[in-house]
Amino acid sequence: WHLTLLGAPTDAGAGVAGAHLGPDALRGAGLARALRGQGHDVQDLGNLAGPPTPAHEARHGPHHLACVSAWNQAVHDAVASILAAQRVPVLLGGDHSLAVGSISAVARHCRQAGKALCVLWLDAHADANTPATSPSGNLHGMPVACLLGDGPAALTALAGGPPALQPAQLRLVGLRSVDAGEQCYLRQRGLPVWRMPEVRALGMAQTMAQVLRGIQAGTHHLHVSLDLDCMDPALAPGVSTPAPGGIGHHAMQQCMDLLAASGAVGSVDLVELNPLRDRQGQTAQLAVDLLQRLAGSA
Ligand code: ARG
Ligand code: MN
Ligand code: MN
Ligand code: MN
Repeated sequence: WHLTLLGAPTDAGAGVAGAHLGPDALRGAGLARALRGQGHDVQDLGNLAGPPTPAHEARHGPHHLACVSAWNQAVHDAVASILAAQRVPVLLGGDHSLAVGSISAVARHCRQAGKALCVLWLDAHADANTPATSPSGNLHGMPVACLLGDGPAALTALAGGPPALQPAQLRLVGLRSVDAGEQCYLRQRGLPVWRMPEVRALGMAQTMAQVLRGIQAGTHHLHVSLDLDCMDPALAPGVSTPAPGGIGHHAMQQCMDLLAASGAVGSVDLVELNPLRDRQGQTAQLAVDLLQRLAGSA
């Protein structure tokens, strides 16, 4: 692969501080070295610049919306130029609200390139709140709805016209913490979801066979949005919103291997690493190991 790492050091979309330290923690854990060691061409654009997270929450509406949209605009523009250069963007977060910017750019790219886009959303959460349903006001709980066209205009407009995604293009895997409003939204919009009990019952191989059905290397672009809290917090404690009962180590490795084998992965978000909550860098290390497997050997 021709990979381009891009850091977006912000935690403005999260309710707790720390995800802004994610990109540098991933670099410190040897991400570029590990990928180069497997024969990939790796470029690191460093960190994007953006506004600091305001100290106080907004009294009404989604928290830090202006700040989150500034970061997302920067991510969108950078990811668009990486894709135009025929490279695979790997967005290093940062909180998961940043996926609005990256996936909006990927959606535009696919429209122009005539490729069918599918997005695999690996997460403990559905991230499908709207400002009306969100119990927290935190924008990292809203990117899925934003990408489907439901959210603050500053974020939904990044795709440039129609919504970035239609529900059938998404696959949400690993969910176990879904808010009441999200539950309705998932059902109403008919989003394809594999919750944790289902993943456990099917096993990862069968889950991924269902998730990847119909996706072909030549015609499809698969975007992997990897929220590290999809894994069990005993394994990956370094996240802002841990939820017990997550994906185990072996299953996660298997998942990455199956994605690599699909040959369809064209872009990646690696988000929600919170080094302030990590234990001896174990979550960062795990993230490096997973990305290595996702990229496979060149
Ligand atoms: N559902 C909760 C909320 O809306 C948690 C969202 C967590 N999202 C994440 N990307 N970690 O606030
Ligand atoms: Mn805040
Ligand atoms: Mn999550
Ligand atoms: Mn998430």
